[in-house]
Amino acid sequence: MSNKKIIIAIDGFSSTGKSTIAKQLAKHLNYIYVDTGAMYRAVTLYAMQHNYINNNSFDKQKLIDNINSIQLNFKFNPEQGFAEMYLNGENVEKEIRTIEVSKLVSKVSAISEVRKKLVFEQQEMGKDKGIVMDGRDIGTVVFPEAELKLFMTASADKRAKRRYKELIDRGDKVNYEEILQNVQERDHIDSTRKDSPLTKANDAIEFDNSDMGLQEQFERITSLVNDRL
Ligand code: DC
Repeated sequence: MSNKKIIIAIDGFSSTGKSTIAKQLAKHLNYIYVDTGAMYRAVTLYAMQHNYINNNSFDKQKLIDNINSIQLNFKFNPEQGFAEMYLNGENVEKEIRTIEVSKLVSKVSAISEVRKKLVFEQQEMGKDKGIVMDGRDIGTVVFPEAELKLFMTASADKRAKRRYKELIDRGDKVNYEEILQNVQERDHIDSTRKDSPLTKANDAIEFDNSDMGLQEQFERITSLVNDRL
């Protein structure tokens, strides 16, 4: 393999397996992996903890006024083999994955001031390349010059089943209908918001993995990476 380092941008709808493939690729290439959804989730958790947002109301201005009090960091956990999300010094990796956060995160991520802060931090992390970043606007806004852009899709039903299994496996009490509804609602909000809606970049390669095994997916994507190196 050459010493050349590239930026790999992975975008797509929620629960399309972006993070699984991104983690696998980063490990294989010895690259940094950044889960930008975790950053939007951590800002949402902050807004929930400070009562700026709940299921019925959202004081956007309060969040905007306090945005500089939110400090986000990723710290590598060698036991897990990936970096965990810290909000103002506290490990929030588990809290940010709950259905409560999933229900509110699209509203928080539609705020331009939130996007501006997080996009800036993401661009800083990718300055030296050698990075795999997943999210919704990586190939379009964060790194429009990324050498490899992937756009992941899968049917809503397949995605809801995957997310349901993940949450049940970690012991959460959820029902499938609630998850499916959340997946569909987020698809809608994420792709219709005014600021940086989820869309496929013109030069992104689309991957429908509804019926593709992990190994096949990994092999196809590593071959695309090797072409770029
Ligand atoms: O990838 P995820 O499901 O953990 O992302 C959570 C939410 O964050 C998603 O519904 C939309 C938002 N998000 C975003 O707007 N831009 C990103 N780059 C990543 C996530």
